[in-house]
Amino acid sequence: MIESILFRDMSLVTALGLRHADVLVEDGKIKTIGWDLPQNVELIVEDSGLLLLPGCIDPHVHFRDPGLTHKEDLESGSRAAASGGVTTFFDMPNTRPSATSPQTIAEKKRLASQKSLVNYNFYIGATEDNLDDCLACENIPGIKIFMGSSTGDLMIKDPKVLERFFATGSRLIAVHAEDEAMIAENKARFEGSRDVTDHSRIRSSEAALSATRLAVSLAQRYMHRLHICHLTSQEEASFLANLETEGLISTEVSPQHLLLSSPSVYDKWGTMGQINPPIREARHGQALWRALKAGTIACIATDHAPHTLEEKALGYPHAHSGMPGVEHALPLMLTLVNQNKCSLVDVVRWMSTHPANAFGIDKKGRIEEGYDADLILVDMNAKKIIKRDHIVSKCGWSAFEGHRLHGLPIATFVNGQMVYREGDFFTQIKGKEARILAPWEGHA
Ligand code: DOR
Ligand code: ZN
Ligand code: ZN
Repeated sequence: MIESILFRDMSLVTALGLRHADVLVEDGKIKTIGWDLPQNVELIVEDSGLLLLPGCIDPHVHFRDPGLTHKEDLESGSRAAASGGVTTFFDMPNTRPSATSPQTIAEKKRLASQKSLVNYNFYIGATEDNLDDCLACENIPGIKIFMGSSTGDLMIKDPKVLERFFATGSRLIAVHAEDEAMIAENKARFEGSRDVTDHSRIRSSEAALSATRLAVSLAQRYMHRLHICHLTSQEEASFLANLETEGLISTEVSPQHLLLSSPSVYDKWGTMGQINPPIREARHGQALWRALKAGTIACIATDHAPHTLEEKALGYPHAHSGMPGVEHALPLMLTLVNQNKCSLVDVVRWMSTHPANAFGIDKKGRIEEGYDADLILVDMNAKKIIKRDHIVSKCGWSAFEGHRLHGLPIATFVNGQMVYREGDFFTQIKGKEARILAPWEGHA
């Protein structure tokens, strides 16, 4: 274990801007930021070509542990995260068994304490009869509600039950917002289709907007803190832009919904491009990008949803929906910085500071004295083409294969310990449970 590190003469990127300084890390925390700091440390990191950023917080991954570990597990998923500069993740409840009780959450936290290289926490999944369990569960990012069916069997169909979740307690609710009735109607229209491009027609933008509107109306009626997962449509983005949602409603977008579009994703990748909610026409990605830049969308989340190549090759509609992403989100965004499409400060806000704020994560998401030393070193000149052989995730593929990355995380520190450096993992280090404050008490 490293007890102290001095990052000497570094360029720091924070949500407030760029800054030059020394950073002293002691006992897992950022102790001092300044000049001429003590040099009697265990490790000195000094490289004027590199940038120091707060580690990314990915509030939406599916690491499949327990029960579906042939796709991913907390060890492989956390390695993929560490290699992509992600130092904290929130995992979704559609594992096996589904994480729907304090006991299943406790078991996931136990597994993570033994297997995860990075920090972690776990959503509890809502069912039609576990509201009390959801409220009893301590220190979690929130309650995940599938408003439409997706991978696994978690869903709340009954509108009265849905309303009860919003009417009760004050725990953050995160929704997968797709209108199940509209999807079912569309499915009937496309009955028998083997054409994966119909996936985007069946899971239409109207179905997404309808569920998003319903979730927002319930959040507003009960003043209940709502996080809308993976926004996918221009219509949802304009709907949210026109609302007064400050502090009450937050949302996230995934790199695949920003950067890939239909029909080309299906032409190139077939059912590997099949995800819920689906990748839509280019106008949606463009609108999501504008909404992210305008602040309507607060966070980038990967919705890392690995399935094996065999499961993806089953043909439409049997192929499993979802694609991996946790290891490439930051490099994809850094590549956009190098293309002058956004700034490093934007990236730090979207991938560190805003997720920490949205979920009230204690002492993370910033390079500030007293904060956890979850830090990454980034080389903005490094280049790499995404290739199947290099994929860290157990699923072993990516819909971004062939993509040219320009700007890479090259080392990852979690609680002041180096867990990743240029392809090597230090797996004896384990992450910790992220502490969640309660930003949603009332109208934060
Ligand atoms: O495409 C998806 N895959 N959407 C989800 O909502 C779930 C996810 C998964 O777990 O595979
Ligand atoms: Zn989802
Ligand atoms: Zn998901």
